[in-house]
Amino acid sequence: MNRPLLIAPSILAANFAKLGQEVTDVVEAGADWVHLDVMDGHFVPNISFGPAVIKALRPLTKAVFDCHLMIAPADPYLAAFADAGCDYITVHAEAGPHLHRSLQSIRALGKKAGVSLNPATPVSALEHVIDDVDLILIMSVNPGFGGQSFIPEAANKIAQAKALIGNRDIALEVDGGITVETAPIVTRAGANVLVAGSAVYKGDGVDAYRKTVSGLRAAAEGGRA
Ligand code: DX5
Ligand code: ZN
Repeated sequence: MNRPLLIAPSILAANFAKLGQEVTDVVEAGADWVHLDVMDGHFVPNISFGPAVIKALRPLTKAVFDCHLMIAPADPYLAAFADAGCDYITVHAEAGPHLHRSLQSIRALGKKAGVSLNPATPVSALEHVIDDVDLILIMSVNPGFGGQSFIPEAANKIAQAKALIGNRDIALEVDGGITVETAPIVTRAGANVLVAGSAVYKGDGVDAYRKTVSGLRAAAEGGRA
């Protein structure tokens, strides 16, 4: 299945002093999804924002809200993120002992269920929950910060995840260090949703973001050709 190529800017790299404008600008510039990086200062060594901020952004756009929870535990907060208007809610496989329960809870809330793997976690961690996921997120950096360098081994993991997915209707997303240089590597390996923070939020405003988003899309399409 040749799934659509989607560009998902991470607002972690946006100007938080005008976050609403940064979201509408990047969508107007051609972004497909809005990637929301939630960090708790416990699962990852950084703190970002939570459901109240996402809820405030929700009325500004119809774009898919792709929420990446870097929090542990995640289960007590899933309903809050669903209520905030997230469309996809992604938990980390490493964030708790009951991944299957987390995924079922997300679907029971009427949302798409995602699971993310840290660089050290093998794709085999997903084998027994593969029919319970709508999205797999392969981390190509250690989560916690934007602006880090792409870890090349992520390409092998993407290829393994693609093989595991087979013909299932599951999005394959990659996050961390995605640039015009690394985008074709990950699409060649099989990723169809590309998260990018610092590579998108360069410059300021719709015109600048149109260039960065379309540049990434063109580079990514090159890997699929
Ligand atoms: C890292 C986050 C990423 C990050 C990507 O923990 O999950 O989404 O914002 O930033 P860049 O694209 O700058 O690597
Ligand atoms: Zn992310």
